Amino acid sequence: MGKLKITETVLRDAHQSLIATRMSLDEMKPILSEMDKIGFYSAEVWGGATFDSCIRFLDEDPWERLRVIRREMPNTKLQMLFRGQNMLGYRHYADDCVEYFVQKSIANGIDIIRIFDALNDIRNLETAVKAAKKEGGHAQIAISYTLGEVFTHEYYVNYAKEIESLGADSICIKDMAALLTPYEASSLVAELKKAVNIPIQLHTHYTTGLASMCIMKAVEAGVDVVDTAMSPLALGTSHAPTESIVAAFQGTEYDTGLDLVKLGEIREYFMGLRQKYLDNGLLDPKMLATDANALIYQVPGGMLSNLLSQLKQAGKEDQLNDVLAEVPRVRKDAGYPPLVTPTSQIVGTQAVFNVIMGERYKTVTSEFKGVVKGEYGKTPVPIDPEFQKMILKGEEPITCRPADLLEPELDKLREECAEWIEQEEDVLTYAMFPKVAPKFFEKRRDKKYGVDGAHADAEAKVHTV
Ligand code: CO
Repeated sequence: MGKLKITETVLRDAHQSLIATRMSLDEMKPILSEMDKIGFYSAEVWGGATFDSCIRFLDEDPWERLRVIRREMPNTKLQMLFRGQNMLGYRHYADDCVEYFVQKSIANGIDIIRIFDALNDIRNLETAVKAAKKEGGHAQIAISYTLGEVFTHEYYVNYAKEIESLGADSICIKDMAALLTPYEASSLVAELKKAVNIPIQLHTHYTTGLASMCIMKAVEAGVDVVDTAMSPLALGTSHAPTESIVAAFQGTEYDTGLDLVKLGEIREYFMGLRQKYLDNGLLDPKMLATDANALIYQVPGGMLSNLLSQLKQAGKEDQLNDVLAEVPRVRKDAGYPPLVTPTSQIVGTQAVFNVIMGERYKTVTSEFKGVVKGEYGKTPVPIDPEFQKMILKGEEPITCRPADLLEPELDKLREECAEWIEQEEDVLTYAMFPKVAPKFFEKRRDKKYGVDGAHADAEAKVHTV
């Protein structure tokens, strides 16, 4: 067994998990070249909600952020998170958009693209994987890890084999909801290692307090790479602390070879940022608490707080227990989607409606109907045809790869945002966030010409990372 490799997530998932993705490039810049000297296997720096946050809250061009990080970290592989056919947005995009986005991501500095689909429908990953390979990138497919009677080891092993056959370079077990337990991590990794030849990576959150133990058992079972975060932005809803994981395996056959003294210097820098985030309220100490409720309710922490806020808005927060009991029923009706962006929001909102309307499916959201119709792809378990009929009210379900129904759209998008274009990548920014991007472009232009352009921010989405 070889040495353990580390993916450092402090520049993406850690701050997405703890401070709503608000770390700015200015805050990152002073430490990038030092981080580059550590010898991380990779640094996750882009994608997920960072893109959205850049243009919505930080007035930052996400592409420029990527180019700067690339320049400052020439020796470290840069990694991004990519939601398959949804890219970084919230709908399915046509293949020409996906191909172009992947091409531009790699051209601007990304080495490894971690691609996942909320439904684990391999067809939704084909285009992105093919495009990444074509551009010489590393295509990693992440398995959305979840619990439920259908999510057996056989299910994960079959999916892993599909992933390998598709030509992916590696597999990530993506435990966004911190549902993984140490012995399960051990046996799952062992089975996946037996089933496929490509490297296996583990991504697990600290929310339930088990991440370090999961990592240790996964490493002993042969996992190749693990995700961690520099300690000032670790723990809670984030990841296991990088320094602790490095220390845990020092002097063993899994020794990462990373220098704890050098990591200590990086830590000092991020401790300064941590204090700043505590002082300005961005970092709520509650986010750092351990919460094992996810293991009871089997819903991600972010989803739990979303449900509560939706119920509060309706003045029905006393019905949280009913909603929590309804979530598994809605999920079963919908063919057992894993609960990750966007399915966590879709299932959660439908469960809230089912409870507060006093009648199940009296009100059906268009997104829930979309899942039942097959607009997001194939669900892990086929949906009961009778239920499908009731929800679709005469509409025909979609059984093909959803993107096969989409006409190329890049040219049309280019036309729509022509007045704002300053670089080729802008059309992708617009494609992903057509409402927010023009405001961002306008501010960018105003800044260039010295006009003060203040615009109200639109409502932000809550992600399950
Ligand atoms: Co995550």
